[in-house]
Amino acid sequence: MAVREILQIGHPVLRQRSHKIAHFDAALSSLVDDMIETMHAAPGVGLAAPQIGVSRRLIVVEMPDDEDYPNPGERWVVCNPEVVRTSRETEPGQEGCLSVAGYVGMVERPVSAIIRGQDIKGKKLRVKAEGFLARAFLHEIDHLNGVLYVDRAEDGSVMTVKEYEQLLQEQAAEQEADLAEEMEIEPAQDARVHI
Ligand code: NI
Repeated sequence: MAVREILQIGHPVLRQRSHKIAHFDAALSSLVDDMIETMHAAPGVGLAAPQIGVSRRLIVVEMPDDEDYPNPGERWVVCNPEVVRTSRETEPGQEGCLSVAGYVGMVERPVSAIIRGQDIKGKKLRVKAEGFLARAFLHEIDHLNGVLYVDRAEDGSVMTVKEYEQLLQEQAAEQEADLAEEMEIEPAQDARVHI
């Protein structure tokens, strides 16, 4: 197992359509191990193979072990993932990407999605994803088609993590001024959730 270098926006591999996985062998399993280790080291909640320079249709997604997220602590490895269906309903949400380090932006995505694909042995699998999990899967599958979240972000919404944290602080301060002193303020949402 090894932590691999994560390619940054501007690298041509990130803009290619990745190739289908045909061989479910030891080399694939070793690639998956590297992707998981790289995702953990980053840290991130998802990684697509092209982000480490491997133009193959392979993604890993792992939700934080935190009740604020859907399916906390669960991990999926999906080969040849396809979006079967998405909800008509969409919602905006803050997104970051390990290949666009240091930035976040607002992206409108379906609130739920059904994904199908294969596990590392080639066995068919299906995932019903909701909320942030659906967002993570759709973000990773975009990577396999050469699409980055910045392509989908609302105009003017992409900013540095530092700017975003400042904005959250300002919003929290405004809220605080509006609310009675005894009311408890929720801590600002962590901006460093990168997919
Ligand atoms: Ni990404």
